[in-house]
Amino acid sequence: MGIYVRPYEAKDYDRVRLICIATSDIRVRNETKRAFLLKMYCDYYIEAEPKNCFVAVDKDEESGDEKVVGYILCAADCESYAKNFIKNYIPKIKETGRLNSFSARSQVFLYSRYAAFFPAHLHIDVLPDYQRLGIGSMLTDTLLEHLRGMKVKGVMLVVGKKNVKGCSFYRKYGFSEVGRVGPGIVFGMDL
Ligand SMILES: CC(C)(COP(=O)(O)OP(=O)(O)OC[C@H]1O[C@@H](n2cnc3c(N)ncnc32)[C@H](O)[C@@H]1OP(=O)(O)O)[C@@H](O)C(=O)NCCC(=O)NCCS
Repeated sequence: MGIYVRPYEAKDYDRVRLICIATSDIRVRNETKRAFLLKMYCDYYIEAEPKNCFVAVDKDEESGDEKVVGYILCAADCESYAKNFIKNYIPKIKETGRLNSFSARSQVFLYSRYAAFFPAHLHIDVLPDYQRLGIGSMLTDTLLEHLRGMKVKGVMLVVGKKNVKGCSFYRKYGFSEVGRVGPGIVFGMDL
């Protein structure tokens, strides 16, 4: 197994969406739920900000075959994210249910509340068979270096309190808890 991280490319679209669903802690019982998760946590980033997304690739040394096994997706500037997400993604989320569109609006509101300190936010997922091999750290190193190069001053994320892997990963990596909201913890890092 030879793992490396590279910028997201258009050819990764389906695979990244598949990983988003495969790693979700929310049960995907039907197509509506699937559509909601993708619109909420994945599509905006790879469609609107592909340059701020990176993938981890497992390359088979013998065959040369490559497969994407994880990703880190990022919105680098909260203001542009909020404008685009509200205009183009929330209407699609609304089609999956009114409550979902409420969650999406709350998410935008939450990111906006912290944007003065942390203009960027991220989502990271690694397939179960590839977890705890240092891939999450490699992806985060790459994104943070990229954001520093763009002079972004801080990055945040929200993780469920009950997500033991996620919380332990962010703490170990060096993120600080900056707030709590309902069932979630907000972590942030100055860059
Ligand atoms: C969170 C996640 C991205 C971490 O990626 P990773 O490649 O496993 O992370 P790394 O190998 O670089 O870092 C490992 C550290 O993460 C934490 N961690 C990872 N898996 C863990 C587990 N099963 N239990 C507890 N801590 C865990 C530990 O702090 C670990 O350090 P250690 O191995 O020295 O104890 C990955 O576990 C994942 O995709 N989880 C499912 C989806 C998810 O929760 N995403 C984040 C949502 S906000």
